[in-house]
Amino acid sequence: MKNKVSARAHTNIALIKYWGKQDPDLIIPYNNSLSLTLEHFYTDTTVTFDDTLSEDTFFLNDQRINDKKVVHFLDIVRDKAQKNVFAKVESTNHVPTSAGLASSASAYAALALAASSAIGLQLTKRELSRLARRGSGSASRSIFGGLVEWEKGHNDEDSFAVPIEENVTWDIQMIAIMINSHEKEIDSRSGMQHSVDTSPFYHDWVKTTEQDLIDMKDAISKRDLAKVGQIAENNAMKMHATTLSANPSFTYFNPDSIRAMDAVKNLRKSGITCYFTMDAGPNVKIICSKAETPYILNKLSPLFGADNLLVAKPGPGATII
Ligand code: ADP
Ligand code: DP6
Ligand code: CO
Repeated sequence: MKNKVSARAHTNIALIKYWGKQDPDLIIPYNNSLSLTLEHFYTDTTVTFDDTLSEDTFFLNDQRINDKKVVHFLDIVRDKAQKNVFAKVESTNHVPTSAGLASSASAYAALALAASSAIGLQLTKRELSRLARRGSGSASRSIFGGLVEWEKGHNDEDSFAVPIEENVTWDIQMIAIMINSHEKEIDSRSGMQHSVDTSPFYHDWVKTTEQDLIDMKDAISKRDLAKVGQIAENNAMKMHATTLSANPSFTYFNPDSIRAMDAVKNLRKSGITCYFTMDAGPNVKIICSKAETPYILNKLSPLFGADNLLVAKPGPGATII
């Protein structure tokens, strides 16, 4: 058997964050999350299952890497297909890797689609979302385009993402302020586990996020950008409060992240509808309208450099290429 398939998946940035696992092996989260899939950032992955291979090999951006997570994921795919065949995985990130721009989301959504197709599984989008989840929780959402909710569920069968608006027709997008595109020191997986294990605020994070999700869905249904931004910004800062309150404490902020968040607040004071969010990395994302984006770029370019401001429109779901 020799079968090769390539897939593309886009990253997503959460407006309501996923931060903590009830079941670390199956990746069942403590709370539902909600995100926007982004056109500008994506991963292309080619998987070749080949009888003549004697081990799995993985290349990221043309570099051979030993990655236990990729092999573990391929084991899950082989188990589902009941086939014992090794694979060559070749992946290119059109997004900085491990910098808080959700490379694990586009990576495992693309790998789930390419690997399952190459091995001969014909999965529904829901099954794909469940499979992608096993690689990285946020990847469950990148199977779909636009605004997407990951329903936490209780087990492997009922924890998957569902599209809320695959085709976003109203005026919402993001601008990423690239502060540092190097690999973070504390990856999302260990960062969230440490928050779960040691932050006294973790319980309140989960509890208040349930209401945030209800309010967020209401704001989306009303196409209320200011409300969406306000809830997202507050939700993100509550997530980051669980890192500051962990023991020992840690943070994904750096001085430029604070500078960027202040700049967004100042724009808001001047009447612009813009809000910020941050993930497990120092880069700040602005939630804003397409209409006001040129003005925002103009104001922020002198502060952060025009080249460091990346506009990301709503993007599509994962596809075979
Ligand atoms: P990010 O904020 O970029 O999602 P994470 O800490 O969540 O950072 O995940 C980074 C990890 O995702 C990497 O260490 C690697 O294991 C995995 N990853 C990133 N890109 C790829 C890829 N193209 N293929 C497979 N795994 C990837
Ligand atoms: C802060 O999905 O990267 O970006 O499931 O351990 O792979 P693992 O973690 P990951 O966590 C993402 C955390 C976040 C918030 C979010 O995307 O919802
Ligand atoms: Co990630």
